[in-house]
Amino acid sequence: MKESRLVVGLMTGTSLDGVDAALVEIIGSGLLTQIKLKYFYSVPFDSKVRDQLLRVASGRLVSAQVISHLNFLLGILYSEAVFKLCKGARIDLHQLDLIGSHGQTIFHQSEPSVFCGRKIASTLQIGEPSFLAENTGVTTISDFRPRDMAAGGKGAPLIPYVDYILFRDLRQGRVLLNIGGIANVTSIPASPKIIQVRAFDTGPGNMPIDIVVRRFTQNEKKFDHRGEIARSGKVIPTLLEDLLADPYFALKPPKTAGREQFGEHFTSKLLDQDGSRCFEDLVCTATEVTAQSVARAITELVLPQAHIDQLIISGGGAYNDFLLQRLRALLPQLEVLRSDDFGIPANAKEAVGFAILANETLNLHSGNIPSATGARHPVVLGKVVCGNNYKRLRGIVKS
Ligand SMILES: Nc1ncnc2c1ncn2[C@@H]1O[C@H](COP(=O)(O)OP(=O)(O)O)[C@@H](O)[C@H]1O
Ligand SMILES: [Mg+2]
Repeated sequence: MKESRLVVGLMTGTSLDGVDAALVEIIGSGLLTQIKLKYFYSVPFDSKVRDQLLRVASGRLVSAQVISHLNFLLGILYSEAVFKLCKGARIDLHQLDLIGSHGQTIFHQSEPSVFCGRKIASTLQIGEPSFLAENTGVTTISDFRPRDMAAGGKGAPLIPYVDYILFRDLRQGRVLLNIGGIANVTSIPASPKIIQVRAFDTGPGNMPIDIVVRRFTQNEKKFDHRGEIARSGKVIPTLLEDLLADPYFALKPPKTAGREQFGEHFTSKLLDQDGSRCFEDLVCTATEVTAQSVARAITELVLPQAHIDQLIISGGGAYNDFLLQRLRALLPQLEVLRSDDFGIPANAKEAVGFAILANETLNLHSGNIPSATGARHPVVLGKVVCGNNYKRLRGIVKS
């Protein structure tokens, strides 16, 4: 009922680096949505939590107790992230209207396989939203992906709807590239109808780079700051060719990827060396795999379908200057920008996106784009856990 809402978006991605929290003022909904990012805060996972998440997300055998405990623990950590966000923004929890929480993906298989005699695809995001609703008092929407999968979609990517709201343009054709652990693109031609939006995961983003850096520095460094390590190395051509031969890169969209495809197993080729390779060359090669797989996806799967002028980059990988330099060199026909140039800091974009998607659900608007996820039809995404403010949200009790 309110003209403008204060919405928190929470995102924890495949990099397992921490919780990103965005405080967004949202006016309206649907295609008329206007936003203002009021504050952004990132809370890193401590190494114990990260190690547990990594065990689960890498597909190692763990007990149901570990998964159940992690689900509750993350819910508590998410609510603490909201406290910190509000403190930093100097606002009271009571002023918040809504929280949208993506959760932590610990499993995502979008292609069905036979299980108990049935063809099953599934996804699992954890981070119990009941703790957000209870500890903050704010109604929380979470678990956005399963509804799209139940409608025959791949459950991902969901940010294209947000990209369409925020970045569609009458004159410029745009590709939005988010470089998180995994890299994904959204293609939006000039003056588009929503059904013209295409999106898919191109493959690895920062994940293999992070794994190599962490392994060689014994976790002292968590990533290649600004791509400085890669810049001082050389590509190892045989290894690059081997990694780029992965069948995922030749698949046609819709397609989604995760740690299952580009995590420890994929990266083992960069690590299982006889000691003759230098660290900088391995980081450089991992970076080149990301640059070339993104450039190939855009050249072969996006540009033949739509006229595109600009490439707008977000995600933590947008701060890897060497990776951006390589993308500019591989895609000279595109103007390469960062989402910061449009008022949304690169590291905040996905958290902002889940604030917008929660606002869509609150307004009973669909949030998936079937041409991006492969769903049979648009659906209203997510599940709602009511906080103390739910009556006010419905306009029953005036605030
Ligand atoms: N200054 C930087 N230089 C290079 N890479 C960076 C920088 N800051 C963040 N990153 C990369 O971004 C990753 C986090 O990106 P993020 O968008 O949070 O991914 P995810 O959504 O998978 O969690 C880090 O693990 C790191 O690889
Ligand atoms: Mg992250």
